[in-house]
Amino acid sequence: MLRECTVRAGTDVARALDVGCNVGGLSYALSEWVGDQVVGVDISPRAVDVAKAVARNRGGTFHVAEQGPFTREVRIRLNRAASRADLAYEVRDAERLRGFAIGFDAVVLSNVLDRVNDPTAYLGQFLDSADVLRSGGLLMVACPWSWEPRFSHPDAWLGSAGGQGPQRPRPEGDPQVRLRARRGGGPAWCAPAEPA
Ligand SMILES: C[S@@+](CC[C@H](N)C(=O)[O-])C[C@H]1O[C@@H](n2cnc3c(N)ncnc32)[C@H](O)[C@@H]1O
Repeated sequence: MLRECTVRAGTDVARALDVGCNVGGLSYALSEWVGDQVVGVDISPRAVDVAKAVARNRGGTFHVAEQGPFTREVRIRLNRAASRADLAYEVRDAERLRGFAIGFDAVVLSNVLDRVNDPTAYLGQFLDSADVLRSGGLLMVACPWSWEPRFSHPDAWLGSAGGQGPQRPRPEGDPQVRLRARRGGGPAWCAPAEPA
């Protein structure tokens, strides 16, 4: 879909950022058509390790957590010929991308907007300046809208629980976006820590 949009918009995508990339499936798909570089970032060191190993070895066998102590074996094989752009992965907090991620032509947020602490400030990183996403670049947001208190406080959820449908992200200059951006995107609210 993003590729189709780039064609329609006449936007050249040399560098793309996949935020919350997990083990890199989407980053790899992007690398098939993006020009120069795809960077995947995730807060989970384990996911980034797997993504790097898969890219290095063109696949591998891994165990992913299912529920409680149960895991599932996953085998991945990549098509050597398919990848066009360089792939790089980094452990990063998606809520603190300024300064690290600069001037990308396209940014993809797939299933991560409802996983961050402060979704409004998080979106603000891409909407209120050209630091992370260059002016005229493309932002793709895919989100099942499954908000959970363990990820963000209900006050921070975008859209209405009363069935009025999702609200638009707060516009540039919105005081809440600016206030949170000034705080450095820091947590406005923290869920209780999970047992180790
Ligand atoms: C539901 S998975 C989505 C994975 C992939 N983007 C997809 O669409 O299949 C959410 C991912 O976001 C990552 N994530 C959650 N909070 C994050 C944060 N603050 N910074 C970076 N990654 C985060 C998780 O570690 C997880 O890999």
